[in-house]
Amino acid sequence: MKQNKGIKIYVTESYEEMSTTAAHLLGAQIRLNPTSVLGLATGGTPVGMYKNLVRMYKEEGLDFSGITTFNLDEYYPLSRSSDQSYYYYMTDHLFGHVNISKDRIYIPDGEAKDVETECANYDAKIEELGGIDLQVLGIGTNGHIGFNEPDTFFPKSTHLVDLVEETIQANARFFNSIDEVPKQALSMGIGSIFKAKKIVLLANGTHKAKIIAETLYGNVRPEVPSTILQFHPDVTFILDKEAAAEL
Ligand code: PGA
Repeated sequence: MKQNKGIKIYVTESYEEMSTTAAHLLGAQIRLNPTSVLGLATGGTPVGMYKNLVRMYKEEGLDFSGITTFNLDEYYPLSRSSDQSYYYYMTDHLFGHVNISKDRIYIPDGEAKDVETECANYDAKIEELGGIDLQVLGIGTNGHIGFNEPDTFFPKSTHLVDLVEETIQANARFFNSIDEVPKQALSMGIGSIFKAKKIVLLANGTHKAKIIAETLYGNVRPEVPSTILQFHPDVTFILDKEAAAEL
């Protein structure tokens, strides 16, 4: 494996081990700072991590009562009550099962009438609460983090995104048909993500191997948004061995 100074890389044997390793890292963050501000991700990848966090709450008394969370993104437009919304996902996988306080959960509002104000308020709230202590990320096969799609610049703050075809196709598996996948989303910007004190990126599966290698060792450029992580001072990658296969 090539070295990449500053980025810690854990290669695990399986999806299960990736998930428990990530949950232990978040658990340690919560125990060390019970009022941590966490940045959270959705998608298929972190489901096992959330399952382990729920288990740690139930069996080990991991206490979420002082935690604040900001989710990376939400489809737009989409009602919170839709079972495809990330609000629904978070309730289903984590918030509905642990003792987190509902008034400290922040997810961009997929029903916002005034998108610009919603986005500006989201970044302002993160700042007001002292910034994100630990941000969890998944990664798209095109290098998107949050829903920051490949572009000619790195978006600074929370904004409305046009999802690219590759993302719509990748996410169609969660919907009844591809036509139901919203074409837009609200996403924290690369700048918002970059302000997090610590970042943990999870990836599993052979289909992520190429983008993981590119993210770690490719030229830093907005056409592959995840490459910007090379410049962040505290990033940890937790991979299964398939996603690490090209390192
Ligand atoms: P996935 O999505 O976890 O469902 O692979 C990751 C992403 O698109 O960021």
